[in-house]
Amino acid sequence: MARAFAKVILFGEHAVVHGRTAVAAALDRGAAAEARRTSGRSRLELKAWGKVVQDDDRDDDVSRAFAAVLHEVGGEGAVDVSVDVQVPGGAGLGCSAAIAVSLARAVAEARGVDLDDERAAACANAWERVFHGNPSGIDAAVAAGCGAGGAARGGVIAFKRGEPVRPIVPGGVMELCVGYTGEPSSTKAMVEAVARQLARRPEVVERTFDGIDALAAKSIAAIEAGRWYEVGQLMDLNHALLASLMVSTEALERACHLARGAGALGAKLTGGGGGGCAVALAPGKVDEVLAAWKAAGIDGFVTRLGAPPGGVR
Ligand code: MEV
Repeated sequence: MARAFAKVILFGEHAVVHGRTAVAAALDRGAAAEARRTSGRSRLELKAWGKVVQDDDRDDDVSRAFAAVLHEVGGEGAVDVSVDVQVPGGAGLGCSAAIAVSLARAVAEARGVDLDDERAAACANAWERVFHGNPSGIDAAVAAGCGAGGAARGGVIAFKRGEPVRPIVPGGVMELCVGYTGEPSSTKAMVEAVARQLARRPEVVERTFDGIDALAAKSIAAIEAGRWYEVGQLMDLNHALLASLMVSTEALERACHLARGAGALGAKLTGGGGGGCAVALAPGKVDEVLAAWKAAGIDGFVTRLGAPPGGVR
């Protein structure tokens, strides 16, 4: 079984597409794939989506993305792959990249190709390009556990396009709640919307990206030192800048507001926005945040970064 992890972006989404730094963490859930050699055409089953494709349907995005991964992995031979996911798609949690990394690893295993974490991420980016047009690569890097030796659970990284991934070690257990607004969103559409704003008002939008970059840079030292109050404030500021890029929604504003009201130190949208998920930093208050969300119909879960595997839960 080949595995990969979903992710939560703590700082820097959208700005990271345009060369700024982002900070992200792997969740303890993601995707798992199994592949076996077969004769005839390669075939992919995405169980959660009830979708089965071959690698030769030019009119189908999943088929084209599958073909791109098969090509990028290299080696030879048709494969029959099935992939299962444990996170919702279109929620900003890196479901697509997790599928792609687990798929690439399973294909490599079946073909006897050696694939390190960086190559697995590169293969996943070939998949991501079909769906997202211009992915920064952060989702694939986290999904593959780059900078964390493949042991992605709870791994936190700083990511900048074209630079090596930098692992971040939190100075204590970082207690986060992730809440799904129930509004599915398209990362591609949101990335394109931000690119249109950049083309229209480059001086304003570049400065917004620079602001987000400064917050991400500051957050690294604060996370490493376990200064959660500061991290929370930086998250609120990052959310405000994302909202100024028009990628927040009423439901995301509400999720962040409820989390802060329930005792979170900070909250922001995570991922592409336009729906999807909010993330809240809530040391000692995770139950209160989840309860406030639940009362408002928002499904949430807790993730603890920097906790030893099988440790605090
Ligand atoms: C999506 O998870 C994060 C974005 O920054 C897009 C990307 O980095 O490719 C919105």
